[in-house]
Amino acid sequence: MAIDHVEILHYGTAAAADVDGVRHVVRLIDLPHALGRIRVDSPRIVSIATTGAARVTLGLSDNSQETVSFDAPTAEPDLVIEDIGLAITCMGEADDVLGYVTDAAIICSGGRIRWIGPDSQVNSAGFDLTGARRIDAGGRMVSPGLIDCHSHPMFAGNRGGEFARRAAGHSYQEIAAAGGGITATLHPTRMASVEDHIALTAARMDRAFAAGTTTTEAKSGYDLTCDGELRLLSIAKAVDAVHPVDLVPTLLGAHLIPPEYKADRAQYVDLVANQMVPAAAERRLADAVDVYCDDGAFTLAETRTILEAAQRADLKLRAHVGQFADLGAAELVAELGGLSADHMENVSDAGIAAMASNDVVAVMLPGACVQLRMTPPPVDRLRAAGVRMAVASDLNPGTSFCETLPIQMWLASTHYGMTVEEAWLGVTRYAAQAMGRHDIGVLMVGAAADLVVWDAEHPGDVPYRYGANLAHRVIKRGRIYPG
Ligand code: NIG
Ligand code: FE
Repeated sequence: MAIDHVEILHYGTAAAADVDGVRHVVRLIDLPHALGRIRVDSPRIVSIATTGAARVTLGLSDNSQETVSFDAPTAEPDLVIEDIGLAITCMGEADDVLGYVTDAAIICSGGRIRWIGPDSQVNSAGFDLTGARRIDAGGRMVSPGLIDCHSHPMFAGNRGGEFARRAAGHSYQEIAAAGGGITATLHPTRMASVEDHIALTAARMDRAFAAGTTTTEAKSGYDLTCDGELRLLSIAKAVDAVHPVDLVPTLLGAHLIPPEYKADRAQYVDLVANQMVPAAAERRLADAVDVYCDDGAFTLAETRTILEAAQRADLKLRAHVGQFADLGAAELVAELGGLSADHMENVSDAGIAAMASNDVVAVMLPGACVQLRMTPPPVDRLRAAGVRMAVASDLNPGTSFCETLPIQMWLASTHYGMTVEEAWLGVTRYAAQAMGRHDIGVLMVGAAADLVVWDAEHPGDVPYRYGANLAHRVIKRGRIYPG
């Protein structure tokens, strides 16, 4: 084994080492000798040196050092969760069936699930559990950690005044045309320092995590300059490195034509497609590219230009589709092999058919829909066509300032007419699919040990009791919070 290259990443919150050509990223939160409880203002990495064939030593800003080895991790179980009344596996036989194990136990090691089965068999399952921490769930319900597959968590400023104006009867578009909307968030977001952004985003993640979210998408889109969009993506990576929630960045440079480019929108589309997308890909700052294709945002032709650039850069494709008007973006996402079409209040039968044949996930954002007093998406038609539905927060400062998924599950199963099972699959397995992931959102051997222990007996309890936080314990990659 040999280390070819090392570097410090994301404002000293992480470091990378290329070992035999394979990149290993070490984040502050992953350090083997815990720095105590990792916090936003934890000491940052200021130096990195190779100290062995597969070993680096990190120097931290408090003058301490941490050594990290890239040898294969041991496979001994380190966590056992026992006396689970009901485990929701999200691995049902059919696509719309949740899947359960009653009276269950789960064995984990190295941040992955190793075994799931009847509680009565945990000690005879063939594992050496002597070194494992054992947690008694006390008959509670356990699910996969929730996944928020559509979220805009990096922004500064406050648009509470817009909420009040909408409550008084003004429309979102009317307020946007008068200088509110996305434009109103650009200035405070551009002005805020990296440290302020890290603190703001981490505080949002605290609320998400407390309510059961263990992975979230994190869209840029509130700076709309090339450097600024890359800065927001890097801030997402920095928060990912110091917070238990995993943040997976998406470039949304095509959120709006910024005021500076109003007279020449083609130039802005060119900037996104030919500068932002390649730079985000080259610097490994984004997993996906999203475009807001709608009246007042980007046209279908502009959306195609940007998504094709994303395809060339080997990034995943997503789009905001039909929130206000159906411009045909559902068909485009399907044609280009995109992962998801999100919002979907307005979509044609042809768009739904194209999504069904290409396995594009429909991401339901009921918080934004209710807040803008829109008619819900055609859930019955989506279901009949066999389109899988995810449910997400759309966390953003304008239309849905909400970090918690159980509230979205409640709206999905009341206002949208989704079943409780669909709402659960929407924040787990199909949310993972909307992000192109298969290692999260399910309880199965090999999946991430991302779990929530709920103060609940039945899956319906979580949306049913929407105002209470029923998350009793959240487990991220085999680590328990609160510890
Ligand atoms: O998803 N649709 C685009 N963007 C947001 C709204 C953004 C804002 O108003 O700041 C949404 O609803
Ligand atoms: Fe959105």
